[in-house]
Amino acid sequence: MSEAKPVILTCAQPTGGGDLTLGNYIGAVRNWATMQEDYECYFGIVDMHAITVRREPAELRKACYSCLAQYIACGLDPEKAALFFQSHVIGHAELAWVLSCYTPIGDLQRMTQFKEKAEKLGFQVKSAGDDIRFSHEGAKAQASVNSGLLYYPVLMAADILLYNANAVPVGEDQRQHLELTRDLAQRFNNTYSPTFNIPNAYIPKSGAKVMSLQEPTRKMSKSDENPNGTLFLIEPPEKLAKKIKSAVTDSGSEIRVADDKPGVSNLITILSVLTGKSVQEIEKDYQGQNYATFKGDVAEAVVETLRPVQARYHEIISDKVYLEGVLKDGAARAQNRAYKVLNKVYRKVGFPDRVR
Ligand code: TYM
Repeated sequence: MSEAKPVILTCAQPTGGGDLTLGNYIGAVRNWATMQEDYECYFGIVDMHAITVRREPAELRKACYSCLAQYIACGLDPEKAALFFQSHVIGHAELAWVLSCYTPIGDLQRMTQFKEKAEKLGFQVKSAGDDIRFSHEGAKAQASVNSGLLYYPVLMAADILLYNANAVPVGEDQRQHLELTRDLAQRFNNTYSPTFNIPNAYIPKSGAKVMSLQEPTRKMSKSDENPNGTLFLIEPPEKLAKKIKSAVTDSGSEIRVADDKPGVSNLITILSVLTGKSVQEIEKDYQGQNYATFKGDVAEAVVETLRPVQARYHEIISDKVYLEGVLKDGAARAQNRAYKVLNKVYRKVGFPDRVR
């Protein structure tokens, strides 16, 4: 009998119109595509996470499908991997509830992403242990911080542990969430008996944090207020090239990686990952060259890498029958594994067996 393959689970949010960024591609989806032979793969689109901010229902539905088509266009293969929407699989919310009962509230209040998101809503978050205080920054405070925002990492831990994943390929920004997941798995195992694998974060050596083109000390993000800082996978090539050519560069004219050159360093990383050339080779190639030539080459590399991705996306995005077939199959495979783990957890915590 052949040995079972290790399991990976990973997900992305259908933020905005569901458009993935070059950061998502380089730090995440591109790498997932290379793992499909060696791992049993579950790739989710986390619509339940997406409602921590208000969304227009029809737009969210559309964003989920767009994100699915982009997954496939980037090389995720529905024949090899289970591709699914989080809300289609029973167990994510159920396991999140169980895990929340093992999660000290202080652990959630300390999460960097929670603080950042609350601050974006105009709150200042000060936490000391289990005590949390929000103070309004005057008129900037727009809404209350909903508890889903605080609870977000528990749902994410449930996403991972529901499949008893061995590894989770993600970008650098998810490291802290993975640490919490590992702590929760350990805590549960220690309280009962070994139940969950302790999942490893699988973070690429290069490109794990692609930065904004306009503010290169911040990560490239789907929800950036400045759209010129973010490259979207399905943007028209002219627009991609224009954004790259107007990327913020640094003082001086040398093309090399350095702490005081975050803009140029970011572009070098992008070029290195997309061409397979090392940073040293790139620095050597561009000795004595100007920024305009260099940016032109980065733009070409991005546009040419994304050309086949965009072509495939446009082929499948209107094929609802095909996409629904992918989802039906993906959800069935995911559900099959999820039920097994959920049942095991329910038994361990002492819920009575269902009477049939
Ligand atoms: P999300 O949707 O923000 O991002 C999806 C994946 O893309 C990576 N990523 C980046 N990598 C490099 N540079 C960037 N600028 C960049 N921006 C994003 C992210 O690290 C991620 O791997 N909380 C998660 C979604 C999630 C999840 C999960 C992930 C929910 N449940 C379970 C893994 C496992 C998120 O918001 O990712």
